[in-house]
Amino acid sequence: MRVMTFGESHGKAIGVVLDGVRPGLPIDIDVIQRELDRRRPGQSSITTSRQEADRVEILSGVFDGKTTGTPVCMLIWNRDQRPEAYDKIKSLFRPGHAGFTYLAKYGVSDYRGGGRSSGRETASRVAAGAVAKSILKEEGIQILAYTREVAGIGIRRFEESAIEENPLRCPDPDAAKAMEAAVMQAKESGDSVGGIVEIVVRNAPAGLGEPVFDKLEADLAKALMSIGAVRGFELGNGFAAARLRGSENNDPMYRDEVSGRIRTRTNNAGGIAGGISNGEEIVLKIAVKPASSIRKEQETVSLDGEAAKISVEGRHDPCICPRVVPVAESMVALTILDHLTRQHILDRQKPLRTLRDTIDLIDRNILLLLAERQGIVESIGATKRLKGKKIADPKRERQILKKQLPLARDLGVRESDATALFKTIFAMARRAQRRGDSK
Ligand SMILES: Cc1cc2nc3c(=O)[nH]c(=O)nc-3n(C[C@H](O)[C@H](O)[C@H](O)COP(=O)(O)O)c2cc1C
Repeated sequence: MRVMTFGESHGKAIGVVLDGVRPGLPIDIDVIQRELDRRRPGQSSITTSRQEADRVEILSGVFDGKTTGTPVCMLIWNRDQRPEAYDKIKSLFRPGHAGFTYLAKYGVSDYRGGGRSSGRETASRVAAGAVAKSILKEEGIQILAYTREVAGIGIRRFEESAIEENPLRCPDPDAAKAMEAAVMQAKESGDSVGGIVEIVVRNAPAGLGEPVFDKLEADLAKALMSIGAVRGFELGNGFAAARLRGSENNDPMYRDEVSGRIRTRTNNAGGIAGGISNGEEIVLKIAVKPASSIRKEQETVSLDGEAAKISVEGRHDPCICPRVVPVAESMVALTILDHLTRQHILDRQKPLRTLRDTIDLIDRNILLLLAERQGIVESIGATKRLKGKKIADPKRERQILKKQLPLARDLGVRESDATALFKTIFAMARRAQRRGDSK
């Protein structure tokens, strides 16, 4: 999969071209829009007040709600661009920004809000990431990011449901309040604060990553470090590992009796060993610097090299973390999807024995799930008897089929095969429920 973004902060539009998306993938523009809304400016008092609806338009690669296999181009118009706001400081370099380095490299620099280096470019990444996330979701893989620390205030507990409920995107509602107060205080004094964003990948299979130059953590580090304002990357316990002994740092291994999977008791490794995922949660952290655009006066130089003072007025994020959250999720989603695609290709080349071992494991899991289902069904049977209800319930069976067949279709399982499978399961369930009659 290849991703190319285009556009500048105060130009006409920004966008992304996604090449290599498989055909037939359902694309829900509302899902993409929801992700963009999480990143868009003007969401709260602690993000920039620039008003952009960030409405996405799909220009190509999608027909009848499904991908065609050709490049998917998505466009977001810039509506609230105010290039004139930069007129006053256009002859000065802004400390912490890319004006000087772009000029050194290209000989020209778009001073309007950082041009191409602006955080605005990341909206395109979020649109691409939303597509990647929906493909991963089909495979049961979930990516979740949140703010762990802001202005030195860290989380003490983890409530997943709290993340999208506060402007910081922080899983600890109390810490979120303290963080918000610190951000507002910095903003009022014309300053900004930084923080740490954590990203976890759940249910990624073991085997993702391409040693040795495209190790999974190497690609994840590159993806995350390519986001503006990101200053550090950690996998698992990261820098803390440097202070531990091997006996403390190693993750003890065991075989999980229920799933038959090889697992680790702790996860200092952050879900990756030798550049390859091991099936545990992949845990990553990034350090986000305080936004460079601040009202506080700073020393700088003009384009001619003259000493000067600068105060950056206007609409800026006093803390970038909550807006980095969806961007980080997107970059991780794109990287994981890329490696998953590569692994699918490799899986097809695996020796027959390995493939059969995997099939054996899947069959075992099917049986375990079936036994679990039978247990639940027996309890339902007992309840029905208690209430004097009939065991056979064709209406419920039809409901189940209606609910599950669209998924079968999306997963590429033939409808007739899925129906036959469910009919067998229904027959088993009726027998299990009746068994209780004779007890
Ligand atoms: C979503 C997002 C929003 C950002 N908003 C701002 C901002 O309002 N003010 C600012 O100074 N920097 C902001 N940045 C960071 C700058 O884009 C970045 O610091 C700058 O281009 C220099 O690049 P570097 O920090 O990677 O060296 C933002 C970054 C992201 C990802």
